[in-house]
Amino acid sequence: MLDLLVRHANLPDGRREMDIACQDGRIVEVAAGIDAPRAALEIDAGGCLVTPPFVDSHFHLDSTLSYGRPRVNQSGTLLEGIAIWGEFAENISADDVKTRARTLCHWAIARGNLAIRSHVDVSNPQLIAAGALLELREELKPYLDLQLVAFPQEGYLRNPEAPAALAAALDLGVDVVGGIPHFERTMAQGSRSVTMLCELAAERGLPVDLHCDESDDPASRHIETLARETIRLGLQGRVTGSHLTSMHAMDNDYVSKLLRLILEARVHAVANPLINVTLQGRHDDYPKRRGMTRVKEMLDCGINVSFGHDCIMDPWYALGSHDMLEVAHMGLHLAHMTGVHEMRACFDAVTANGARTLGLESYGLEPGCHADMVVLQASDTIEALRTRPARLHVIRRGRVIASTPRSTTTLSLGERQIQVDFTAPG
Ligand code: FE2
Repeated sequence: MLDLLVRHANLPDGRREMDIACQDGRIVEVAAGIDAPRAALEIDAGGCLVTPPFVDSHFHLDSTLSYGRPRVNQSGTLLEGIAIWGEFAENISADDVKTRARTLCHWAIARGNLAIRSHVDVSNPQLIAAGALLELREELKPYLDLQLVAFPQEGYLRNPEAPAALAAALDLGVDVVGGIPHFERTMAQGSRSVTMLCELAAERGLPVDLHCDESDDPASRHIETLARETIRLGLQGRVTGSHLTSMHAMDNDYVSKLLRLILEARVHAVANPLINVTLQGRHDDYPKRRGMTRVKEMLDCGINVSFGHDCIMDPWYALGSHDMLEVAHMGLHLAHMTGVHEMRACFDAVTANGARTLGLESYGLEPGCHADMVVLQASDTIEALRTRPARLHVIRRGRVIASTPRSTTTLSLGERQIQVDFTAPG
């Protein structure tokens, strides 16, 4: 007997009315009209979209849900946010980090986001936040893939305590080497930090994910060094450049060369649309830049691009409820990606591409993959982007771990009652 049979599912690749059979936590068959007499649980998706889980490839769990502590970011800039975080983090406690991060992870599960790569600040040698998030990673393992990045928020070379603290965090089991080259004192120091962090990752056999060129300055070209070091050290496919917002301001001639280098290095690119449009362009007069990196050009070139939420209710961003469809929705607007294939590509940026950035194994809706999926109250990916609907069922290893009732509104118009769920006619 099957553990789970999901019937009449529309898949992100366009296949419609498919059945998905699951056994022992894995998908065993995907086909139309599977002839299975019994399953422990049968879900009729009724022509709804069933997708592999959403993936948030860039987040900060240690600072999340701390909005206003100790004060609100009045200028709205990245730098004021870093200063506020520095004040807050001085007296951080493990319980506080864990409580806030756990709440966020519960929101994530409710939204069908079952994989998160979270940076964790390792500036403080006591590693309080890292320790708390490592415990949370284990606590939530049955429900959520949590990857942690050792992130020297105050700079790897700028903060003399950072190298030892970052190494200690990796010793504790943090998964990925992080960095912030554009925040180092000089371009040369930024470049040096990229080399050192890539060498550290190569020594330890770990992936790299740097906050890279999160600036409006077109001269911020650390991505070039990151790609070159990736190739030199044989790290292809294991390195991620997060943000890359300076690319928005670079000239096209230079970018045409740079894209080929990023592709050759197989460096993953992560854009954070909600945050990039909020933080970047703050020093601009009109017209103000959008700030997000060149998503469309990178995808056209064959580079893997995924989207992250980055922040929710913290010193950098006051809003958010961890809805990755909201992220994709903003991303497609900022990137002018409103063509049908382009909108689908933005859906991929919060699902399959994110899984590639994180290196997730057995991700997808094919036989042999983990039985992890989300049933949405929408018929296809574009309707999901348009309406950002309820996640009716969130399934992990063949078991339902979150359910949301179908959303509908009843209009009372004179004698008539009309149900509205924002589905277009036909
Ligand atoms: Fe970030």
